[in-house]
Amino acid sequence: MRKVITYGSFDLFHDGHYRLLQRAKELGDYLIVGVTTEKYDEYRGKMNVVNSLMERIENIKATGFADEIIIEDHEGQKVEDIQKYGIDIFTVGSDWFGKFDFLKQYCDVVYLERTKGISSTMIRQQAYKIIRLGVIGSGRIAARFAPEVKYVSGTNLEGVFNPKLESARLFAEKFELKFHTDELESFFDKVDAVYIASPHNSHYEYIRKSLEAGKHVLCEKPMVLQASQAEEVYQLARDKGLVLLEAIKTAYAPGFLQLLAIAKSGRIGQIRDVEATFTKLVSGDIRELRTEENGGSVTELASYPLLAIVKLLGTDYLDFRFDSFEDENGVDLYTKIYLKYKGATSTAKVGLGVKSEGQLLISGTQGYIYVEAPWWKTQFFEVRHEKQEQNEKFFSKFAGEGLRYELSDFISMIYGNERKGYKLTPKESIAINGIIETFLTNRLTPTKV
Ligand code: CTP
Repeated sequence: MRKVITYGSFDLFHDGHYRLLQRAKELGDYLIVGVTTEKYDEYRGKMNVVNSLMERIENIKATGFADEIIIEDHEGQKVEDIQKYGIDIFTVGSDWFGKFDFLKQYCDVVYLERTKGISSTMIRQQAYKIIRLGVIGSGRIAARFAPEVKYVSGTNLEGVFNPKLESARLFAEKFELKFHTDELESFFDKVDAVYIASPHNSHYEYIRKSLEAGKHVLCEKPMVLQASQAEEVYQLARDKGLVLLEAIKTAYAPGFLQLLAIAKSGRIGQIRDVEATFTKLVSGDIRELRTEENGGSVTELASYPLLAIVKLLGTDYLDFRFDSFEDENGVDLYTKIYLKYKGATSTAKVGLGVKSEGQLLISGTQGYIYVEAPWWKTQFFEVRHEKQEQNEKFFSKFAGEGLRYELSDFISMIYGNERKGYKLTPKESIAINGIIETFLTNRLTPTKV
């Protein structure tokens, strides 16, 4: 019996898929089809697959060509499967020509001609209108965001707004955008959704204006500097039926999501303490160090550690205090925030003028989780126990700047997939923004927020 195997996402099942499976089956007597999980697709840079894994499996089943369907969830699995199932022929469409030649040491490799004029990507683009995205602000974070957009299907970065027209022009030129402008109205006319990457103090106004103009909003952290403002804009988004998401990139990253799932599974018992650190040395006449722009380590960096704390211990903290030291202008260069919970403690450590290990430690009654620096770009963590032989290591990918993950969820939510909102709920975002507000109003040199 000749056994054949093929793999794919098989999203929005189409004629190209049907014809591939038909010919794959004809190559032998028994056909195994490997279907990729959503997570593995994300890992290999394929975002926004529409059908669920079960739907994709059902569609393959319905063709009657597959004798067996398996799940593909990690790199290197093909070699394992070929040996495990005693495969004679590996086959795939000609778009992969040459890419799987290395499998020839295990079995025959056949590239079947790809059916012309159809692909899942094409159907996704036809069925789902491309979301025209525009960016407000053209600074450093915007420049890191722009190249990430191409990894997310269903959207395109069209243009940029900046009250300083020359900055907008340079940004548009660099990233080959269709337009740049210093007029908000004409900016809103040309986009469906906005990414706000302007200085903190301007977020609230831009969010409001964008929502009023009927645009979905993805806003850099800290989204706003007052909890009441956060509540107001989330309510406004709800009233208008628009998506509003705070762009704390870690919240949407696959490694961090896996970490949360494991930490909350009871693997380390009850969580009793969370310590999260993020420091970044900066100097010079920059926004981060200016009082009037609400600079400082907390506004710049605390969203990340607070995210970890709020995701792990919740939003109902009992007590809040901090220790901090400031420069001569009253900007905090280093701050330790303590949040006390019923049955748990936590510390967020942030610094712009002090360097420390950027790790995350989650301590429990039966062990702890160590997340290696930079934990906010979660790639590696270890679950550690009293008996070292029980320790387990976990690895995941954090692709590029990692901004594609938040964008992918943002676009998916605009398409109506509201379930994705669990990664950072309005309640969690409001709590984080509220802690930052409390810090700003109570610090040694209180700032107007
Ligand atoms: N395939 C094909 N002809 C097409 C499209 C896909 O033969 N017109 C084959 C691919 O070469 C692969 C299998 O079908 O062997 C599954 O491909 P998949 O990546 O799931 O489909 P695509 O339509 O190419 O998906 P996407 O656009 O998301 O990349």
